[in-house]
Amino acid sequence: MRPIPPVLAPQLLRRLPRRQQEVLEAAAVLGERRGVSVYLVGGPVRDLIMGSPGADLDITVAGNAAPYAEALAASLGARVTIHPRFGTATLILQDGLRLDVATARREQYRHPAALPQVFPATIDEDLFRRDFTINAMAVRLTSGGGELLDPFGGLTDLRGGRLRAIHDESYRDDPTRILRGARYAARYRLRFSVRDRRRIESTLAESVLQRLSGDRLFREVQLVLHEAAPEAVLKILEGLGVLRALDPALARDLRAAAQMRRVRQGWQHYRHLGVSPRPELWRVYLLILLRSVPARVRRRVGGRLGLKGPPLAALTGELRGLPLLQRQLEGRRLGASRLRHLLDCASPESHLLLWAGSGRVRRRVERYLTRLAFVKPALTGRDLKEFGFVPGPTYRRIMDMLLRGRLDGHLKSREEEIALLRQRFGRPH
Ligand code: CTP
Repeated sequence: MRPIPPVLAPQLLRRLPRRQQEVLEAAAVLGERRGVSVYLVGGPVRDLIMGSPGADLDITVAGNAAPYAEALAASLGARVTIHPRFGTATLILQDGLRLDVATARREQYRHPAALPQVFPATIDEDLFRRDFTINAMAVRLTSGGGELLDPFGGLTDLRGGRLRAIHDESYRDDPTRILRGARYAARYRLRFSVRDRRRIESTLAESVLQRLSGDRLFREVQLVLHEAAPEAVLKILEGLGVLRALDPALARDLRAAAQMRRVRQGWQHYRHLGVSPRPELWRVYLLILLRSVPARVRRRVGGRLGLKGPPLAALTGELRGLPLLQRQLEGRRLGASRLRHLLDCASPESHLLLWAGSGRVRRRVERYLTRLAFVKPALTGRDLKEFGFVPGPTYRRIMDMLLRGRLDGHLKSREEEIALLRQRFGRPH
């Protein structure tokens, strides 16, 4: 059992930063004035109970969200965007705080993995349409207080470390919930209930996952890779048979898991190197994941994730180039200009991945990131023009030559650069 103390809604809300409390108070007062019930729902409630409130707020109103959201935006001085198709609105407050407002709704799935049709509904129906008991809690907002709604026992499940879908059809309706569940299981250290494991097994056996569009699947994979410890999510997904269901050749690779941890451990230090542009961690994880499988599986998995054309070519090209790059960086002799050229051609994500490796490679990448990447000749294109060179591809060649000279230490000043040009091209006169 987890030590989650008794939960009283007003106390729960007081765990929020003051600014968010003020916003919710304004939302409650406006609801009372307009005669509609207003609820804080889903993720924010779950995270408040777990003691880790996030930045954004999700509100559901038992009535039309649009006019309510407009009035709330006016009272808070916020920007509002209405999404009429979904019955939702987004408010962005002046300090950047984001508030999503939705009309309470129920959902109907015409077939498994389809996008649902939505209809206005009561809060109970709205909570029932949701994925997991832990995500189906709400706090009814009243001025100066609140009341916790937990119709499916989400609090008990959080206490007992258990993850349960709300109804039997949940995973068939929306198989992305299998991946969502694995994220929550890893994040909050929960275990899928025995019944849920069986439901997932039968959903996978019906190949429902295969019906998801590449886009939706890729979005879920990205969310997995955005988690604090994606390798823990992948372990759970493998245990559930999801990796195999996505591609028979996909299995969790222990080396890949260790690499992910190593990248993460180095991340703080790496950030202090002030690298720009900064690599995106989730992309590094994706490289690690796909690096461990054969090229044809990569293409297949990339295709399944809806990647095609240049993005797929860039990803597979990068992965193909990595082993050679790794060997070149391990080599005994590697001049500064060659090192610069090799790493200029690699992405920020490959830099981080290589840096997270062993001694010599790491030292070389760090040398590149902190020094070599900033080296440039003293002369510029404008100087070349003044010296009478004709603009065009020659400029690039000359600048590259000067850069190599700088990097390898043959050229140390503007005068030496000019002397080299004179010797090679007879100008400036
Ligand atoms: N939801 C759902 N089924 C989905 C996606 C979302 O039932 N396939 C519901 C859940 O109740 C969830 C809420 O919509 O709590 C909001 O979804 P989302 O913002 O994706 O999740 P969060 O709960 O905010 O969780 P996370 O911290 O992972 O973003």
